[in-house]
Amino acid sequence: MQSHFRLISLVTLLLTLCATWPTVTGLAQEKEPASSRYQTGRRTLDGIGKYYFGREIAHYMTHLGASWLERPEREEEERPDLAMKALGLKPGDVVADLGCGTGYYSWRMAKEVGPKGIIYGVEIQPEMLEMLAKKMKERGVTNVVGVLGTTTDPKLPKLVDLVIMVDVYHEFDHPWEMMDAICKQLKPGGRVVFVEFRGEDPDVPIKPLHKMTEAQVKKEMTAQPLEYVETVRTLPIQHLIIFRKKAEK
Ligand SMILES: C[S@@+](CC[C@H](N)C(=O)[O-])C[C@H]1O[C@@H](n2cnc3c(N)ncnc32)[C@H](O)[C@@H]1O
Repeated sequence: MQSHFRLISLVTLLLTLCATWPTVTGLAQEKEPASSRYQTGRRTLDGIGKYYFGREIAHYMTHLGASWLERPEREEEERPDLAMKALGLKPGDVVADLGCGTGYYSWRMAKEVGPKGIIYGVEIQPEMLEMLAKKMKERGVTNVVGVLGTTTDPKLPKLVDLVIMVDVYHEFDHPWEMMDAICKQLKPGGRVVFVEFRGEDPDVPIKPLHKMTEAQVKKEMTAQPLEYVETVRTLPIQHLIIFRKKAEK
């Protein structure tokens, strides 16, 4: 009788493992139809319980935390000047600062592209766009334009040379749809840049779901018409990972 129960328990355990394995590993990702692009799994404190390529998506940062984006020590911690250098923007470039928040990076890029260029500051939170407009006015910046996007489409008014996401991509609740839309709104040969806190480094003092490893970003981009260009490692606690839109055949 006892061994009968043991057998039932073992079968139950195996069935449970089979059912949850793709959820945890994301192995089902590549060959599945769109409806099962994502998996539902355990919801952790900072996550939404939705998984993409085995990664739990982080909850987005609300506008109530906007002052953290403008903290004075950020300049030393992140060295945005080095990020600007790495981007190599040219006068006249059209750039999307996706998930721009208060525009901490937008005005810096606006200086690089000059009056003939334009920065679209894209947000899903109208409150962030209000703060963006206020900050740009205070700085006398006139070539940053706020755009209200959705969680599946940034709704860019025209094709862009570069899309940059600083500490944003891991918050997309529809990463495949967002990246699909982004690729369609890029000029031929246009670049996509991810600036993420380094997930490989346990000393980077950021919550795990708000960091990303380079390997994970590369893995997720295999689902898009993008080719990897390079990873810039000059920033203190982030990496800047650059992709380019593949030429259409
Ligand atoms: C951590 S903040 C970073 C803000 C800014 N990039 C910076 O570095 O100061 C992330 C921002 O991404 C925005 N966000 C999340 N998902 C988004 C989406 N699908 N489209 C546009 N913005 C999004 C959030 O509203 C939030 O303001």
